Amino acid sequence: MQDSPLSDIRIGQVTAQWAKAQKISSQYFPKIDSTNLKAKTEAFSEEAFNEHLILYVTDHQTAGRGRGQNTWSDAGSGSQLLSTWSFMLEQALHPTAAPMMGLALYRAAVATWPFLEWNLKAPNDLYIGNKKVAGLLLESLSQGSDHRLLVGLGLNVISSPENVSTATSLVHELPESVPLLAEDWIAFLERLVFEMSFSLQLAHEAMNSTSTQALLHALNKHPLLKEQYTALDQNGNLSTPSKQISWMEL
Ligand code: BTN
Repeated sequence: MQDSPLSDIRIGQVTAQWAKAQKISSQYFPKIDSTNLKAKTEAFSEEAFNEHLILYVTDHQTAGRGRGQNTWSDAGSGSQLLSTWSFMLEQALHPTAAPMMGLALYRAAVATWPFLEWNLKAPNDLYIGNKKVAGLLLESLSQGSDHRLLVGLGLNVISSPENVSTATSLVHELPESVPLLAEDWIAFLERLVFEMSFSLQLAHEAMNSTSTQALLHALNKHPLLKEQYTALDQNGNLSTPSKQISWMEL
């Protein structure tokens, strides 16, 4: 990436090439409606049956979805990571699995670019300072005894949608002396897969004390937070000194 002009880079294509080299089952589309929709259609296909992880990645979505009724806007072809990571699940997920996936994304980002002001905004938005850089859309699916978790990740890498003033991109936030290096992108992807896979191994039980503290720390670093979070209980309820908020209702 350092050697090519940023406008020539297709983040989805680069990511698909990395997945192929890593022998991660993947499907790349130059353009698609939504990678989550595609992953949903194929979740219980014959091809998916034996695959623990399948990556669906594109460079342009025509119907990108966010959480709830939100949409996810494109910022120009190839400038974002538009991806869905479809994991096979052995057991039902604990209610704290959702925040664990946000923490996994945060940990991968901090490990790769530790000098940026990473923080989390519940539920599962990744920020740099007071600007959103990524969001997760989690969907769990079951068919008989087969279960999959779809982790939809949109990350503004080279640019963010022009009409969204509360958003930023990784490249915009990197210091001038620190270009986006291909090796850093690969390190981030590898760390992300490790963090998500490791979290899912633990995700049938309540979040452990270390991860809970790490999550509260990441949430409390958010500069626009009105009240600090003090606890996350076993049902995924977040507490502040004045109220309790269910993660699911956020
Ligand atoms: C949010 O911030 O509300 C979650 C956004 C998730 C967007 C990603 S982009 C790739 C994947 N496909 C979708 O349609 N949505 C997710």
